[in-house]
Amino acid sequence: MTSSLPPSDAILPGITLDQHLLRRQRHIPEATGDFTGLFQQLTLAAKVIASRVRRAGLTNQLGTTGEVNVQGEVVQKLDDLANATILQSIDNGRFVGIAASEELPDPVIFDAARGRGKYALVFDPLDGSGNLDVNGTTGTIFAIFKRLHPLETPSLKDVLQPGSALVAAGYVVYGSSTIFVYSTGKGLYGFTYDPSLGEFFLSHPEISIPHHGKTYSLNEANAAKWHPGMRRWLKDAKGRASEGWSLRYSGAMVADVHRVFLKGGMFAYPAEAERPLGKLRLLCEAAPIAFLARAAGGLATDGRAPILDVQPKTLHQRTPLFVGSTAVIEDVMAALSRDE
Ligand code: AHG
Ligand code: MN
Ligand code: MN
Repeated sequence: MTSSLPPSDAILPGITLDQHLLRRQRHIPEATGDFTGLFQQLTLAAKVIASRVRRAGLTNQLGTTGEVNVQGEVVQKLDDLANATILQSIDNGRFVGIAASEELPDPVIFDAARGRGKYALVFDPLDGSGNLDVNGTTGTIFAIFKRLHPLETPSLKDVLQPGSALVAAGYVVYGSSTIFVYSTGKGLYGFTYDPSLGEFFLSHPEISIPHHGKTYSLNEANAAKWHPGMRRWLKDAKGRASEGWSLRYSGAMVADVHRVFLKGGMFAYPAEAERPLGKLRLLCEAAPIAFLARAAGGLATDGRAPILDVQPKTLHQRTPLFVGSTAVIEDVMAALSRDE
């Protein structure tokens, strides 16, 4: 028997998400632990949702509830379940004073007796839920602001903040594995879930979006409704297929954005003639993704202005979105401005 210990990575696959958060907390002398506590709640919610998504076909959880949500979209049973899971996870603590979901018309304001949490949470409980019935990838997106007046009763104003005011954001991808990706503004980190241990382990330290990329991810069926500059950009990209350009589009923004973050390129949901603000939601989809893109050296724009600069006026406000490699996004913005 040898007396020396085996290398640590032979036993543990890496540091856990919990350890990563605690290390971060130790570097902030004034930290109260609330932020770490909130993340632990979100991590738990992610584990629960991942488990429900994995077993949905066995537990009669596929299909719709028969309802239409505030977005005018059909609600999947798992949209409801993921929404309730996150709300329940955060209500068990005292870190969030107000939470707004893609699935709910109004924000939920938590009971003052719980301590009036100083954070405001915005989330898309299940992104790409239309993929569920075909065993496709889905995800969760979340965004965290500090409340504007933490001693006062939480209000909508706490949530209607521009992306530049976010203190953290992240997403979870329920794909071939479950991955939790987050940033507090500097550095983007990804953790892969090991279901046998019930832990997320750091698998993607310091994700950096390649400056260039040759993947575009958009719903080309809508091209006739786009700005002519956007159509021309796409035509050019298609003309460069021999240079390695290719299309990847899954129907779940988180999955497509995750690919772009790792491999480069662009995810876009452009404006349309009859939908000048496109489809995606500014607060629970575009702003957190823009925050993460910036942390990883990429760009996100609505075609005119950086997404992070847009001041939301309403909770469910929509926005066009172009996000990914800096060189590609700048190229698209130039194409959009040429034909205005
Ligand atoms: P959600 O499932 O949260 O409503 O989001 C769906 C979004 C986004 O994830 C995806 O990229 C886009 O809608 C797909 O829309 P199209 O079907 O119009 O391409
Ligand atoms: Mn979504
Ligand atoms: Mn959703």
